[in-house]
Amino acid sequence: MSTNIVVAIDGYSSCGKSTLAKALAKKLHFIYVDSGAMYRAVTLYLLRNNIDLKDEEAVKAVLPDIHLNFHSRDYQTHILLNDEEVSDEIRLMPVSSNVSAVSAIRAVRLEMVKQQQRMGKSKNVVMDGRDIGTAVFPHAPVKLFMTADPKVRAERRYKELLPNNPDITLEEVFENIAHRDYSDTTRKESPLIRAEDATILDNTNLTPDEQLQFALDKVQPFLKVK
Ligand code: DC
Repeated sequence: MSTNIVVAIDGYSSCGKSTLAKALAKKLHFIYVDSGAMYRAVTLYLLRNNIDLKDEEAVKAVLPDIHLNFHSRDYQTHILLNDEEVSDEIRLMPVSSNVSAVSAIRAVRLEMVKQQQRMGKSKNVVMDGRDIGTAVFPHAPVKLFMTADPKVRAERRYKELLPNNPDITLEEVFENIAHRDYSDTTRKESPLIRAEDATILDNTNLTPDEQLQFALDKVQPFLKVK
């Protein structure tokens, strides 16, 4: 039986999942996997190659041509799409506006879940996303479900995006988040829902350090029995 530990962190867009996941992985010396970056990189590939996102068969046909790899430096996610570093490009608006549609495609999800399960098979990992505690690792010993006030989330994301997107407005970011919340929670394939055994972490009024401590307290018992 495998004795590695998987920490599954799910939740809404822009509520600090990756900040917490990275900090936790760093503290525990676990591997960090940003599953959203994988859906984003697939989206970038499809957009660049003018694949019709509504044509599921066309999307399915090109999946074997998409090779994703992570390399980690200082717990920053660097994602490679067919050996090209695309970490910055996947955060720009064209990808953000289309990634929900891509992540709703069944064939895409099946492939991503398979790759994610491989990554957490034998190593200690912290993985964040939307379906990690429900579909990817339903038996993960530690599951957190993160949420925060949508306005606070939009403000945080706006500040993050502004340096690379000087024309962006707060309203645009708020709408993008609201749209993604809606499609993430209502899509047919693996909608965003809290796993029954996941602990809710509402971080509207919590500092990053307080969130880290909360998560560490959840993981601690499993470190002891290892
Ligand atoms: O976490 P993020 O904003 O980078 O995720 C981008 C999109 O990918 C988001 O709209 C939801 C989707 N996603 C998903 O469906 N399942 C995951 N495990 C991770 C992300």
